[in-house]
Amino acid sequence: MTNTSQTPETTQTPETTMRAVRFESFGGPSVLTVAEAPIPEAQPGRVTVDVEYAGVNFAEVMFRRGQFPVDLPHFPGLEAVGRVRAVGAGVTGFAPGDRVAALTLGGGGNAEVVEVGAEHTVRLDGELAELDGALAAGALCNVTTALGLLTSAGHLAEGETVVVLAAAGGVGTAAAQLARSLGATTVIGVTSTPAKAEYARGFGYDSVVSYEEIEREVAERTGGVGADLVLDSVGGAFRSSVTALLAAFGRHVIFGNAAAEDVTFEGNHPWYTNSSLVGYNLGGVAGRAPALLRAHLERALTEVAKGGVRVDVKTLPLKDVVHAHELLETRASTGKYVLDVRA
Ligand SMILES: NC(=O)c1ccc[n+]([C@@H]2O[C@H](COP(=O)([O-])OP(=O)(O)OC[C@H]3O[C@@H](n4cnc5c(N)ncnc54)[C@H](OP(=O)(O)O)[C@@H]3O)[C@@H](O)[C@H]2O)c1
Repeated sequence: MTNTSQTPETTQTPETTMRAVRFESFGGPSVLTVAEAPIPEAQPGRVTVDVEYAGVNFAEVMFRRGQFPVDLPHFPGLEAVGRVRAVGAGVTGFAPGDRVAALTLGGGGNAEVVEVGAEHTVRLDGELAELDGALAAGALCNVTTALGLLTSAGHLAEGETVVVLAAAGGVGTAAAQLARSLGATTVIGVTSTPAKAEYARGFGYDSVVSYEEIEREVAERTGGVGADLVLDSVGGAFRSSVTALLAAFGRHVIFGNAAAEDVTFEGNHPWYTNSSLVGYNLGGVAGRAPALLRAHLERALTEVAKGGVRVDVKTLPLKDVVHAHELLETRASTGKYVLDVRA
């Protein structure tokens, strides 16, 4: 942060600017810059956080390339961990200095200070007191999403079979572990390369195969019955073939479009195929079911704190945000990338 004071050392002028990641036009990773920006003030019902760690998500890749409507300039970053800097009017339960983890769903988390709704901010105390900051930042979006996908969207039941596309990624690795702990009998992952498949196997999948192999793998593992749940963040042409993986009354959970290419389903599709199309959108849950989102957020952090979900975090300095985006966008990433905002 920059101290703009021109006065003698005895008078301390409050800091007014900070370093923040931003982009002013849509495009490739190079549109991202780390630049000075005004430090936000805590508005009513909200807090500001001095950020220590901030996660990088595929959603931010989509925002950056203009695949999802965001205003420009945009300050990316959907999750942050640090200490409360200031508390807005009407906020109770938080004080400056509290260690917190926050879903910064309006963006701005990839910065030295972020302003966030108190309802999306969790104090890292009690059973969360020992939770590592980078780990918490890596868990906020992905583990909360994985929980929502499997429970509220997917209605996973004991003994079911789950297929996870993009199995080696942030959400995928969390979903595999949670599916198992929520009672799935068979969890099958799908990745684009053998190296990613090998990596993903460390997260408890029964098997991890390629997109070309998945139909045969599901048939073999389920005796031709099909999978109960397919978690699909990939989109593209593959989305049309997901129905072929499903058991009768199977659920195709759609929560992303990494391929940046959509497909069309007819209204009669669920009828003809005895299947459900169901969606999950973290921002939408925040708006329409905030108590549910809060419950999932707290449960996600607790699972990670007690070791029930392993998050494989790779920590990079803030300036390497471009590299993190490149890795995600080129399908070269595994696990989760977290920015150390102080580095
Ligand atoms: N709806 C929500 O609320 C919500 C919340 C969080 C995340 N998401 C979505 O969930 C997905 C996972 O997020 P994440 O941050 O954990 O990312 P991630 O899974 O770590 O990375 C994205 C993965 O998508 C796969 N992919 C398939 N086609 C791709 C393409 N054409 N270009 C790039 N990647 C492609 C790649 O895995 P393979 O190479 O193995 O296929 C890639 O590693 C993302 O699509 C994200 O948008 C949605």
